[in-house]
Amino acid sequence: MPKEIQQAEATRCSRRRTCCLLVYGCQMNISDAERMEGQLKSIGYERIDSMEDADLILINTCCVRETAEDKVYGKIGEIKQLKRRNPELIFGITGCMAQKEGEALIKRAPHIDFVLGTNKVHELTKIVRQLEITREHVVDVMLGETELPDDVPVARGSGFSAWVPIMYGCNNFCSYCIVPYVRGRERSRRPEDVLSEVEEAVQQGYKEITLLGQNVNSYGKDHRQADFAELLARVDQVKGIRRVRFMTSHPKDLSDRVIAVMKSGEHLCEHIHLPVQYGSNRILKAMNRVYTVETYRDLVRRIRENIPQVSLTTDLIVGFPGETDTDFRETLDFLKEIRFDAAYTFIYSKRSGTPAAKMEQQVDEELKRARLQALMEVQNAVSLEINHALKDSVVEIMVEGPSKTDPSVYTGRTRTNKIVLFPHTDEKAGDFARIRITQPQTWVLKGERVSG
Ligand code: SAH
Ligand code: SF4
Ligand code: F3S
Repeated sequence: MPKEIQQAEATRCSRRRTCCLLVYGCQMNISDAERMEGQLKSIGYERIDSMEDADLILINTCCVRETAEDKVYGKIGEIKQLKRRNPELIFGITGCMAQKEGEALIKRAPHIDFVLGTNKVHELTKIVRQLEITREHVVDVMLGETELPDDVPVARGSGFSAWVPIMYGCNNFCSYCIVPYVRGRERSRRPEDVLSEVEEAVQQGYKEITLLGQNVNSYGKDHRQADFAELLARVDQVKGIRRVRFMTSHPKDLSDRVIAVMKSGEHLCEHIHLPVQYGSNRILKAMNRVYTVETYRDLVRRIRENIPQVSLTTDLIVGFPGETDTDFRETLDFLKEIRFDAAYTFIYSKRSGTPAAKMEQQVDEELKRARLQALMEVQNAVSLEINHALKDSVVEIMVEGPSKTDPSVYTGRTRTNKIVLFPHTDEKAGDFARIRITQPQTWVLKGERVSG
């Protein structure tokens, strides 16, 4: 072994090293970060919360909207000071912004040591080891067509609920969206690999499994070893599993077979996140969403006929180029008609490289904000009404732990994915409890434990 490597190894063994991971973006990014932490643990790093005390800082980034990128640039600026104080600090950028910007990030901020793309999560150990020895910038953002290898160690963030990616990438190219450019084409994991990860997690005590993909309903279209309905049915049968969730579903691909499996499955939770994005056909077409208001409405009808207790949540974008008052009114009416349990609402953010960024008639920022406000008001009223209907009912929740604001209050989730707050007695995270809903609110249900 060369001398400098021997020395680095000796230093490595002689003291405890710490890493701080900042994670932005969607569940896929959280899942990737769990695999990054798993790798860092395997080479002796312990995760801590404080950036100031860390030997290694990693930002797993998102670029879906400009606001997400702004947050990251803010953090990169903060870390410059830390690096000045501690030149030994290793600082890396991973995730979607790393993929999108590549080397440009290091040009802009040379205190970044490495930039690792979305398809290179499994290379983290190698790169960190290299950097422990020689501080030369590393940029590795080749967007390949492979999926993540199955033997990457994973440090799960929760002790009871596990994220399991079933596919990577996206083929849909919605005209506003950067994801396909930074995550590559759809690649499905083999069903055996998904199932063995699920089985292992359940054996380790995880009770809830969430299957992840940008568009889970197109699972298996590439390898044809199983489709999503089949995979879901097999996951439902895993011995010891208590709850199965999945996200995200593209309305164009959610099949009647999936609905039938959800109806007959025992552990498949009655919740579908079904982003509609908008409620006018003109804008849906310009967004390249492929479905219409009519086909979406029909899909919701079939879901509700088969799974009457289902809760439906959605994503919506206001201010897409060319949006008129008429389009917007249609969207408000559509929300009132469909009655989602909850909606995540976003202001359209121009992403360069996407077709929508070049469209004319970009909407004025102030108008976008006013529309967002109006949209949220309509949706909040609907959410509150739906939740009010649960008053005095008894729901089963899985306990998640103390609330962030008041540790005497615990939170949990219903099968329909609603957050429930209740006074803590002796429940532990991962327990199941029955709660009577006493005070339903727009975003949460407050209640009290009932015995049994
Ligand atoms: N694959 C998922 C989620 C992708 S990103 C899906 O198709 O539903 C999560 C959400 O971000 C999207 O549903 C969309 O509502 C929103 N989003 C994506 N691109 C955006 C943009 N350019 N501006 C604003 N919101 C955007
Ligand atoms: Fe983006 Fe559309 Fe793919 Fe979702 S389905 S990730 S919104 S391109
Ligand atoms: Fe963001 Fe990438 Fe997810 S852009 S939303 S972290 S796939």
